[in-house]
Amino acid sequence: MTIMPHLMFMLVLLVSFLTNVMVHAKGNNNVREACSVTRYRNLCVHSLAHFSSTAGTSPSKWARAGVSVTIGEVKNVQAYLAKLKWQGSMKGRNSVALTDCVESFGYALDELHLSLGVLRKLSRSTFSTQMGDLNTWISAALTDEDTCLDGFKGQNYQREIQLLQKRVQNVSYITSNALALVNKLATTGLGSINYP
Ligand SMILES: *[C@@H]1O[C@H](CO)[C@@H](O)[C@H](O)[C@H]1NC(C)=O
Repeated sequence: MTIMPHLMFMLVLLVSFLTNVMVHAKGNNNVREACSVTRYRNLCVHSLAHFSSTAGTSPSKWARAGVSVTIGEVKNVQAYLAKLKWQGSMKGRNSVALTDCVESFGYALDELHLSLGVLRKLSRSTFSTQMGDLNTWISAALTDEDTCLDGFKGQNYQREIQLLQKRVQNVSYITSNALALVNKLATTGLGSINYP
């Protein structure tokens, strides 16, 4: 009768494994559902997946997650641009464009921080003003990123610049996704269930 404990153990393992799979699948649905309003869905799911269980089905939490992740990636790209500038390998027109990029990313970061501040203290009484501000600031951040790209237009024959364009484009896609998540929040409202 030594087989019984083994069987029990296996059963416990199986149950915990299945529970895990189910919880995971449910979380996955949350992020997929949230990302369904975005333009770059795969990127959205990839970058926001780990918020699945905490954000659940709350549009305000997804909007916040979207803006937080955007801030993180803007900071990464900003550091990368600063490093490029410091290395001084870009010359002439590209060097000017790079300086403009660093400046644009500074503005974008400010606008995104303002946005996160609003998302942290949403209120019913000022909701529509808040949504207007968010739309203004995130759109401005998107414009700043595009301005950076414009400086390098037609310059994509150099590897270093191709990579820069790729990274800036990527962050602009992430910003666009954040804007979509905020717009989703604006249309659904704070809802009747206990916020936050
Ligand atoms: C794009 O952003 C995502 C999410 O932050 C990141 O994981 C990925 O490495 C980035 N890709 C490029 C090409 O920069």
